[in-house]
Amino acid sequence: MNDTEPQTAAGKVLWHFTMSLDGFVAGPDHAMDWMTGTNRPGLEGEYVTTTGAVLGGRDGWDMAAASGGRPYGGDWNGPIFVLTHHPEDAAPAEGVTFLDCDLAEAVRLGLEAADGKNLEVLSPTIGAQLLDLGLIDEIDLHIAPVLLGEGIRLYHNPGRAPIHLHQVGDGDPSSEVNVRYRPAGTSTTGD
Ligand SMILES: NC(=O)c1ccc[n+]([C@@H]2O[C@H](COP(=O)([O-])OP(=O)(O)OC[C@H]3O[C@@H](n4cnc5c(N)ncnc54)[C@H](OP(=O)(O)O)[C@@H]3O)[C@@H](O)[C@H]2O)c1
Repeated sequence: MNDTEPQTAAGKVLWHFTMSLDGFVAGPDHAMDWMTGTNRPGLEGEYVTTTGAVLGGRDGWDMAAASGGRPYGGDWNGPIFVLTHHPEDAAPAEGVTFLDCDLAEAVRLGLEAADGKNLEVLSPTIGAQLLDLGLIDEIDLHIAPVLLGEGIRLYHNPGRAPIHLHQVGDGDPSSEVNVRYRPAGTSTTGD
């Protein structure tokens, strides 16, 4: 099963990530060199068009700021909101608002700025908090064919009851997704 439906701009709070098969969105020390790219034509442009604003956390921002700070390789140029408990020591950046407020208020500000497009949540920790508050509309994942073994998980919330999800698209929304992989370079079948 491969979800090839284009993302839509609909004022959604979208938790959007590329994730390893074992559930990590960053490797050790925030490593991102494991991403292999997409086979879906125009995927990046889809998100550049449908994203109205971005909400992230301070750690992710500090990492991104060191390399230009803009999502989608600089092709997207909307407002970014960064949650931090100490906005006073953040270096000002154009188009970036540092917030120390409750999450519902951060989402309200982000959706207002998104002006009918989606608010992309690019933070695992904030996404988890928003899930608890019932403020995530959709989880949008691209699964990379790699096992990382350690790093930052998409969702790390020990003690929390499982959160059941419904898959977007046709068919039984509660059914499993079947994928099959082989370790690269060790195939005995010639492929
Ligand atoms: N795979 C992908 O597609 C993808 C995309 C984007 C990012 N990433 C990766 O995701 C990682 C970010 O991970 P992360 O979850 O560990 O960090 P994060 O969410 O970016 O930052 C955590 C920090 O955000 C602040 N924060 C979180 N919740 C808050 C709240 N309710 N109120 C105020 N401040 C709050 C706190 O900062 P203070 O300590 O300042 O208070 C907290 O320490 C990075 O490695 C990044 O590269 C991956």
